[in-house]
Amino acid sequence: MILPSLPASRRSVALGLLALLALASAGCGPKNETAAPAAKAPAPGAIRIGFLVKQPEEPWFQLEWKFADRAAKDLGFTLIKTGAADGEKVLAAIDNLAANGAQGFVICTPDTRLGPAIVAKAKAAGLKLLAVDDRFVGPDGQPMAQVHYLGISARKIGESVGQTLAAEMQRRGWPAAETAVLAMTYDELATAKERTDGAIDALVAAGFPRDRIHKAPQRTTDIPGALEAATTLLTRRPDVKYWLVCGNNDNGVLGAVRALEGRQIPAEHAVAIGINGTDCIVELEKAKPTSFHGSMLLSAREHGYRTAEMMYRWIKDGVEPPLDTRTVGVLITRENFRQVLREQGVRD
Ligand code: GLA
Repeated sequence: MILPSLPASRRSVALGLLALLALASAGCGPKNETAAPAAKAPAPGAIRIGFLVKQPEEPWFQLEWKFADRAAKDLGFTLIKTGAADGEKVLAAIDNLAANGAQGFVICTPDTRLGPAIVAKAKAAGLKLLAVDDRFVGPDGQPMAQVHYLGISARKIGESVGQTLAAEMQRRGWPAAETAVLAMTYDELATAKERTDGAIDALVAAGFPRDRIHKAPQRTTDIPGALEAATTLLTRRPDVKYWLVCGNNDNGVLGAVRALEGRQIPAEHAVAIGINGTDCIVELEKAKPTSFHGSMLLSAREHGYRTAEMMYRWIKDGVEPPLDTRTVGVLITRENFRQVLREQGVRD
């Protein structure tokens, strides 16, 4: 996350400065010869595509890269992978791509409000741009609909999580009066908010009392950030016997599962469902089941291979990708995860 230690007001000042820097370098920086848009389509071997991700340590992003690498091999272009955890790193990485003769890049930005700065920088360098996972947000706080994007059907996938949690609660015969929902939230990111809002709305639609749904806002979208947020919330609710857990992604939900264990809540007293399906494999493989029931497996292949391929076709043949592409998720549990992961090419 960009500048996490700064308060929100200072963060937006910092973001504004970054945008100005990007524009300044767009206006007066030396133009890079190799980065200018080619009049004629480059030969496949000369095509270089960047793939920038915000959290390179997360298995989800490693898998996106793995599939993008596969596209590079199949189609014969060069893929340049960069982890960029903050705004400065993103802007430096774009400069670097331009200097290395890239013609375009795919990016999951560390902060969606960097959108205008990234667009300005890419334009100045003559690089085509495709946002993946996290959609850029404009100065008006609205999604930048003119920037090509591929992401998940976040609300729908969240609703599936909520419906599954409601069904599991019913199957176990847990009384509503003894059960509560722990929603691991990260509302700063639109796709994350849509997921948890979807899960909560589906639970309410299934009859779960809204006043027994508790949000634990994460400061960071990793396991430690989730563990901290969930522990704070669980400490305040010692009266709850059974917990249903949803969140933005696997790591958010895994942090909550670790927090439940820390509070000595038995694994059979909680049902937790993640999103990604790629960052929970070790958890599902554990011989002794934890409360991590399953996850909505997303398609890392679509997000990695297809985005890289779209960028390649755009550069090589001038085929512009659709502005907005959405992908789906399927539920994996301890029962079916090995088979589904094999079918999806995530695991051999
Ligand atoms: C966000 C999350 C990732 C993953 C992707 C899927 O970027 O941080 O963990 O869920 O969305 O698009």
